[in-house]
Amino acid sequence: MNMQSQIETAAALLRAGELVAFPTETVYGLGANACDDKAVANIYAAKGRPQFNPLITHVLDKTAAFEHGKYIPEAELLMDVFWPGPLTIILPRREDCKLSLLVSAGLDCIGLRAPNHPLAQNLLRACGLPLAAPSANRSGKISPTTAAHVKEELGDACMILDGGPCSVGIESTVLDMSGEAPIILRHGGVTQGQIEEILVRPLQDPRLRGDKEFKSPGMLESHYAPNASLRLNALHAEEGEVLLAFGNAQGALNLSKNGDLNEAAANLFAMLRTLDKKATRIAVMPIPMEGLGLAINDRLMRAAVR
Ligand code: TXA
Ligand code: MG
Repeated sequence: MNMQSQIETAAALLRAGELVAFPTETVYGLGANACDDKAVANIYAAKGRPQFNPLITHVLDKTAAFEHGKYIPEAELLMDVFWPGPLTIILPRREDCKLSLLVSAGLDCIGLRAPNHPLAQNLLRACGLPLAAPSANRSGKISPTTAAHVKEELGDACMILDGGPCSVGIESTVLDMSGEAPIILRHGGVTQGQIEEILVRPLQDPRLRGDKEFKSPGMLESHYAPNASLRLNALHAEEGEVLLAFGNAQGALNLSKNGDLNEAAANLFAMLRTLDKKATRIAVMPIPMEGLGLAINDRLMRAAVR
């Protein structure tokens, strides 16, 4: 089947309430019609995900986003700059919001994102639906960045559209704009600095807002866990460890020999997966805490918690 007819088949499945896995520029998503309660419930079932974790709804553009979420001028500003792209914006639900309450997991807000991957965009156009899609992994496992990873995670549970490896490789930044001041609930493909530059103000630190943490279980410590144990900020491998290197060093694998954080983000999940199959202990070299390094270190710290 060529890609166009695969997309049409996938669109028909989605309209019929089935699940379809599809590529985005960040990671692969497990998609369903976001307006269909049963379809959304099937996502939770397929992922083995706790019900309280809300899902991101994928749309084509800001017009579609503001059909579901309340209009906020600063949100539009960010959409104009970063969409399509790896930024999820949480907005209060509109009174007439048609999205399943399940995608909000009981909250009165919704996470919206316009993906920057041609296949995801073609699929959104073909089905004409907002698509709820968490990362296409079993709950608590590493996000998939290739179609083969999705198959490892979910088997034959759903159709998988293969768009090759994801270019960003780390999930979207989740920015909560439903409260008084915008806060980052999850670091990701768009950096805090990039957002602050557009909003022309510093963002609050979510750790100072303990009250809101329940909102994004993505903030839970142990989340992106491989089976192997992880030792972070390692300068070399100890006996029985494999080394995930960064920069000019010899390791079992190297996230980026040139010390390029974008390349490291794109490689992170696939390399963790590969090493997870090879060893029970992975040592990871230090990654600078700047730009995408924040998101990379965040995922590594979660993966290291057991
Ligand atoms: O890059 C990505 O964001 C990928 C691709 C497929 O778009 N999706 C993804 O989805 O990572 P997921 O479900 O694995 O992570 C979504 C994160 C979770 O931490 C969730 O708690 C948070 O976003 N989230 C989504 N909607 C929310 C809402 N209404 N309120 C608070 N947090 C929300
Ligand atoms: Mg996920």
